[in-house]
Amino acid sequence: MSTIEEVINRVDRECREQRIPMLGQERSELIARLIAEHRPALVVEVGTAIGYSGLWIAQALDKIGGGQLITMDIDPDRSAEAGRNLDEAGLSHRVQRQIGDARELCKSVNGPVDFLILDGGFDNYFSCFLAIKDSLASNAVIVADNVYIGEVEMKDYLDFVRAHYRCETKWFDLDLEWSPKDAVEISWLE
Ligand SMILES: C[S@@+](CC[C@H](N)C(=O)[O-])C[C@H]1O[C@@H](n2cnc3c(N)ncnc32)[C@H](O)[C@@H]1O
Repeated sequence: MSTIEEVINRVDRECREQRIPMLGQERSELIARLIAEHRPALVVEVGTAIGYSGLWIAQALDKIGGGQLITMDIDPDRSAEAGRNLDEAGLSHRVQRQIGDARELCKSVNGPVDFLILDGGFDNYFSCFLAIKDSLASNAVIVADNVYIGEVEMKDYLDFVRAHYRCETKWFDLDLEWSPKDAVEISWLE
């Protein structure tokens, strides 16, 4: 078995080579910090891809000694590859992969969901949020990725959370060829 760091570095390389969008180190570190701070029992991620962010999330849950990640993707091949990467890192026990349209899957999540990550198709954010809203814990944290490069497609989502919750936009200079600058929106239900 490889170390978690070795698997993360390999998956990072593969995402860059194959141009598979992923959070990258800076945004994953932010999520890991938020998980350490909020200690969620259940994290839901929309957009598994090949498991780059999932590795970081599962590692952060392992560090706090508990918690599960449900991660969803519509692409069965990507999800299977994520499964192999999580296995290799010894983190599969923290993760349940779901395959299908997250706008539907989010309706059947058994909450309470303490932490939600939206990273699966810019124009799906609001539908996924509405589908899972009633399962969110009263103090849930929501992290939405790509709120700069996807702001037009996710305007409905951003308008809603900015009107109803405490929100903070965090900007990043990234070394990702497809997005040198972007932002994530953190929203606290409180
Ligand atoms: C930006 S990638 C996710 C990156 C991943 N979070 C990471 O950092 O490694 C977006 C993923 O969302 C998936 N996706 C797009 N539309 C979807 C939908 N309606 N339901 C579920 N997954 C979807 C795509 O197949 C793709 O793998």
